[in-house]
Amino acid sequence: MRKQFMACFLLIAAIHIQAQDNKMNGFISTLMSKMTVDEKIGQLNLVTPGGAVTGSVVSQDVDEKIRQGKVGGLFGITGPEKVRQAQDIAVQHSRLHIPLLFGLDVIHGLETVFPIPLAMSCTWDTVLIQKSARIAAAEASADGLDWTFSPMVDIARDPRWGRVAEGSGEDPCLGSAIAAAMVRGYQGKDLAQKDALMACVKHFALYGAAEAGREYNTVDMSRIKMYQYYLPPYKAAVDAGVGSVMTSFNEIDGIPATGNKWLLTDLLRNEWKFKGLVVSDYTSLSEMTAHGMGDLQTVSALAMNAGLDMDMVAEGYLTTLKQSLKKGRVTEKQVDQACRRVLEAKYKLGLFTDPYRRMNAERASAEILSATNRNAARETAEHSFVLLKNGEQVLPLKKSGTIALIGPLASNHRNMLGTWSVAGDPSKSVSVLEGIKNVAGTSVNILYAKGANISDDSVLVAHTNVFGPEIEPETRKPEDMLNEAVAAAEKSDVVVAVLGEAADMTGESSSRADISIPESQETLLKALVKTGKPVVLVLFNGRPLTLEWENQHVNAILDAWFGGTEAGNAIADVLFGDYNPSGKLSMSFPVSVGQIPVYYNAKNTGRPYDGKGSPKFKSDYLDIPNDPLYPFGYGLSYTHFSYSGLVPDHTQISPRHPIQVKLTVSNTGNYDGEETVQLYIRDMVASVTQPVKELKKFQKVWLKKGESKEVVFTLNTDDLKFVNSQLHWVYEPGAFKVFVGGNSRDVLEITLNGIR
Ligand code: NOJ
Repeated sequence: MRKQFMACFLLIAAIHIQAQDNKMNGFISTLMSKMTVDEKIGQLNLVTPGGAVTGSVVSQDVDEKIRQGKVGGLFGITGPEKVRQAQDIAVQHSRLHIPLLFGLDVIHGLETVFPIPLAMSCTWDTVLIQKSARIAAAEASADGLDWTFSPMVDIARDPRWGRVAEGSGEDPCLGSAIAAAMVRGYQGKDLAQKDALMACVKHFALYGAAEAGREYNTVDMSRIKMYQYYLPPYKAAVDAGVGSVMTSFNEIDGIPATGNKWLLTDLLRNEWKFKGLVVSDYTSLSEMTAHGMGDLQTVSALAMNAGLDMDMVAEGYLTTLKQSLKKGRVTEKQVDQACRRVLEAKYKLGLFTDPYRRMNAERASAEILSATNRNAARETAEHSFVLLKNGEQVLPLKKSGTIALIGPLASNHRNMLGTWSVAGDPSKSVSVLEGIKNVAGTSVNILYAKGANISDDSVLVAHTNVFGPEIEPETRKPEDMLNEAVAAAEKSDVVVAVLGEAADMTGESSSRADISIPESQETLLKALVKTGKPVVLVLFNGRPLTLEWENQHVNAILDAWFGGTEAGNAIADVLFGDYNPSGKLSMSFPVSVGQIPVYYNAKNTGRPYDGKGSPKFKSDYLDIPNDPLYPFGYGLSYTHFSYSGLVPDHTQISPRHPIQVKLTVSNTGNYDGEETVQLYIRDMVASVTQPVKELKKFQKVWLKKGESKEVVFTLNTDDLKFVNSQLHWVYEPGAFKVFVGGNSRDVLEITLNGIR
């Protein structure tokens, strides 16, 4: 009965969707029958008047082009007035009155800025993450925006690459869950909703594997590696119904992504059945010339033949497609198809019904930066912080006594929001100093001193300050600043040093070869440690840093990333124990840059070194260990969780008999708290070598102090699949290890037998 009901329901839903599609197709066909070739090509042109974007070129004569029907969409502008102005030109003054599509990089919130994506991924909480995307969509749509260039889901194993800040770290399982949650959050139930944004998964594909972590660098990898590790998060976004896909700057198998037919047509359209819009990244189309693929006309034709619909900023389509049509380098059918996809996106977003449907001043003033949104940002930030060390339980701090609050990031608004917060207003953010005052009130005596500049390296400062003065070197001498800080430390019970990177030391075009805390601040930290006072290091960073010295000499380390608008309050909540930290790393922290790439799901090699016996002729280094300083999944709590009793309900797993794995997690410490229980597998023998561990499941459990809970995971043979040499996901029977723990290193283990 239930099955029949379901079947009937699905049939009715399918008929309804078909009817809607027919209506849309009819509308678009009628519209396209009135369009000239120039107008069709115009729809493929995505321009920016400059401002909140990155890149050396900005579009010219934007208003006139809109009037002439030479623009399909506009991006990179903030504020409803500008959106309205441009939309007015399109719908009132262009021949066919086709509305524009408005995009923006709404990456971690609009004006209520959430933690940077790498931080959010450390919550391992897809409910919170989805909620953050929903709030971002509600705020952005109220300002008239339709489209966000998010989520960025590039798997990254190299923290030198600045854009690790924008993604979810190194793991495909976690990354996929987050990708889907973000898409659901932005797009809501229906793209036509007035508070929905069309999401754009990026950067398709493999951008996170840029060689040596150098921005925009080349990528080369095997198909097996792509399929098993790098492609799943993009696929998860597609499966979640993402409306658009952005191509990446890099090449894949020697062909830039923007002109790569295998990627955009064979894989994305044919294998993954993606039906939405494909847009290039900023001038990635014309950059194919520098890649060595030919002149603008040639690369534009290449992109059209590959399956690219919309050209961001390069105007290669606008200026050359007509000639290519004449020469037969592209077909009218291809241009029609691309134009149709742009119009479909506009139709689904409801723009033909009402081009101003998203703009809503009343909703904007009620929602943007509302108390509810700020509370959500504060909660997300608290959950994203990772406690890396807590020696002698120096944290949480007492709400009494004297605290020396030291560091260039301690009383700083400019750097709270992190990279890609284009509509965020730093002056609306809460600094750490303000947060501590808000949370601890007057019961704590705070002695604040800046102590050092973020960096004294003028080249780094100039490079970082492209969007404004994030690093503002003082006229005071470094020794004077340092002495003031040390004097404050000496008068205090505990030192809280707020150090790290400026916001734009990560993000686009922010690769670093040395990923330590900048030297000026290291000098300060060493002087603070020398005072003998307990030192708590609160870190601002958009990437894993090398922290070996800090780990040895500082009492506690709290990684606060870039926490967004409410960062200061959230940091204070955690420092004083109002919230017990629960974040877990989504990316390994290397001991030194020499280890990079270091990631948990590595292969065993034929000569693995397990740390026992002589390492000679084993896979290791003479001068550093193999293991990272802090592994994937790692993060402490003020309480302690112990794991016991890992048992399967039976030991033979088969396609028809999933296995349940049970264990007990106990809170044996002194605080209530939340733990993320992680399940990894290892396929012991397979036709393609498999990693020593792979995350397959995770669950969050909240335990009162003294409480124990049973945690149950169900594993089926789909969870045991890998990509074989024919690039198929397959399950091969045999022995599998299952590991469960609070990080990827410290785990309980059992063995299962997989059968047919
Ligand atoms: C270039 C970046 O790579 C991309 O992530 C962003 O969405 C576009 N610029 C638009 O600003």
